[in-house]
Amino acid sequence: MLGNFSYKNATKLYFGEDALDYLREELPKYGDNVVLIYGGGSIKKNGIYDAVMRILRECGKNVVEDAGVMPNPTADKLREGVQIARAHKADLLLAVGGGSCCDYAKAVSVSVNCDDDPWDKYFARFEEPDCAIVPVGCVLTMAGTGSEMNAGSVITNHDLHLKIGHVFGEDVMPKFAILNPRFTMSLPKKQMVAGVYDIFNHICEQYFSGEDDNVSDYLAEGLMKSVIRNALVAIENPQDYEARSNIMWAATWALNTLISRGKTTDWMVHMLGQAAGAYTDATHGMTLAAVSLPYYRHILPYGLPKFKRFALEVWGVDGTDKTDAQIAEEGLAALEGWMRKIGVTMTLGELGATEDMIEGIADATIILDGGYKVLDRAEVVLILKESL
Ligand code: NZQ
Ligand code: ZN
Repeated sequence: MLGNFSYKNATKLYFGEDALDYLREELPKYGDNVVLIYGGGSIKKNGIYDAVMRILRECGKNVVEDAGVMPNPTADKLREGVQIARAHKADLLLAVGGGSCCDYAKAVSVSVNCDDDPWDKYFARFEEPDCAIVPVGCVLTMAGTGSEMNAGSVITNHDLHLKIGHVFGEDVMPKFAILNPRFTMSLPKKQMVAGVYDIFNHICEQYFSGEDDNVSDYLAEGLMKSVIRNALVAIENPQDYEARSNIMWAATWALNTLISRGKTTDWMVHMLGQAAGAYTDATHGMTLAAVSLPYYRHILPYGLPKFKRFALEVWGVDGTDKTDAQIAEEGLAALEGWMRKIGVTMTLGELGATEDMIEGIADATIILDGGYKVLDRAEVVLILKESL
């Protein structure tokens, strides 16, 4: 049975090849002072920076740049961003990049008018904002996280070896998000497939929980099938607009809160992956790929009906004359085959994790209770060792 819920999505989204044109309609809604947030410079190479700056100038904005947001943005960078936005009296934070820029902009947005240290307040004490929030807009250049249409923000603290996500309220969601699938075509293959696996796993995290015949599960299965198919097309031809646009739209729906409405969710792959990320600074989607199969094979006996359904509905496994366990295992084998085909990293070792990090990664793993088996610490260690 579906649980009770409310649903609203506060982000206005513009999608397609002309999406950036709508920045002209959005910018006049905010004051003149804009902080342009971006990463390591890919937007200068692919022309997106010039296109955005042109529109900012046309609209008469007073722009300050906050560049160098790294993949897995850090608490130190966040503190720097707060100072930049404060000094500029920011009316709008415009993030141009992937999930890292968008997450970072949200973390800055709730910290500009707040005296507390942002890491301590939001990522250690998990407090909610109690100060004026600076609006965020996003021009997305990478499909994966869903950050463009959700309230999540993930920050890494290298001193503490922690990578923590805070899901804020709807007032922290981007006010608008601009998604042109062509902007993702300059992504290196590694980043494209890491994003694809991130999307797929977001869906899994919400699917592998609960035993009801829930409308969300049908939505999830449709999204998964679309991601599987379009990823294979995009690997063959990265310039295939249809595939890239389907991947980009699926990424948004995978984590814009819709498919989790009225049901429980798991998120343990993310907890394991993020803890590994805190130690290795590895690409987010790859950390998820490395821990997924050991985790799912471990919990399969506890969630057998759903893993069987996953095999039959998502992968088209032929269930004739097979036990439920055989069918379920074939589903995970099909998932593994697809992961290898698209070329995600299959082990934590390849991402730089070593045996002597395992205890620390286990300490950094937050254990959630929404999945088919609530792990104990020994199981976390076992799964991490199997992922090495
Ligand atoms: O730094 P730049 O130059 O922008 O290069 C980036 C970066 O090196 C590059 N890139 C992005 N778009 C490009 C491009 N290169 C060429 N052409 C383009 N069009 O790709 C690299 C990775 O970018 P990043 O933003 O780090 O990737 P992603 O979108 O995967 O974001 C990862 C961050 O989001 C968090 C992750 O933990 C990680 O910190 N997540 C946020 C979530 C949320 N808000 O709900 C949920 C996710 O589960 C995830 O945890
Ligand atoms: Zn993710």
